[in-house]
Amino acid sequence: MLESQVGKLENRSKPIAVIDSGVGGISVLRELVEIMPHEDYIYFGDSANAPYGTRDKSDVLNITRANLDMLKDIGIKALVIACNTATSVAVKILREENPDLIIVGIEPAIKPPALLYDHPTVLVMATPLTLKEEKFLSLMAKYADRETIIPLPCPRLAELIESGELDSPEIDKYVRELLSPYREQKIDALVLGCTHYPHVKDVIMRYVSPTVRIFDGGEGTAQETRRRLESAGLLRSGEGCGRVKFLNSSDDERLIELSKKLLCRQ
Ligand code: DGL
Repeated sequence: MLESQVGKLENRSKPIAVIDSGVGGISVLRELVEIMPHEDYIYFGDSANAPYGTRDKSDVLNITRANLDMLKDIGIKALVIACNTATSVAVKILREENPDLIIVGIEPAIKPPALLYDHPTVLVMATPLTLKEEKFLSLMAKYADRETIIPLPCPRLAELIESGELDSPEIDKYVRELLSPYREQKIDALVLGCTHYPHVKDVIMRYVSPTVRIFDGGEGTAQETRRRLESAGLLRSGEGCGRVKFLNSSDDERLIELSKKLLCRQ
């Protein structure tokens, strides 16, 4: 066998790394495992540095770069940045710095409502950093003539979700307060622009009209990862179910347990 073919086989058997500031990206990991069950995954939650959404842009870039370097030392075939905030500030730069690695990011799912509705009003819940970054501003400009987009920064929500109690009175109260100004307004779609938020979708649904459709970028990101691996010849097939390994930058054991619980939750 040619050396290059051996190299490709070795690469194909490596895991896909999925990263986030904490347990949020597990909402994306779920979609990845669903459509690519034969792959191995390393999920790295950076809970020691969470939340990212209220940090400085340069901070989030440096942290994400260091996390990628650590994962490259372990050996990975692709990186999924399952964090809207880290994607906003780091994806472009990390792709330039790592031209040989497949790097997939996530962005608020603003496009699907534009395809489904005629000029919908779309509320986008995300972290303050995601919403002020150039990446989101240009996405918003791109759809400005097809949707009315209302950005809604949710500075504390990811942090509350990290505490692990997903239906706590505190989360309920915070979500109610965030959404109450829009109660009388006609909203067609709600975009969960932070990967933590799908974990509290049930709470969010309490405070929007049942006619509001909720979107997140998890499935689209998983599909894009599959496409990229396939076109690089790196997709595994028919080799039994893969494994998921959880790593966390915090030494709080509870977070690994919470991560496993969230992966199995529907
Ligand atoms: N889960 C992340 C996102 O998608 C970040 C949350 C945070 O750490 O503030 O934006």
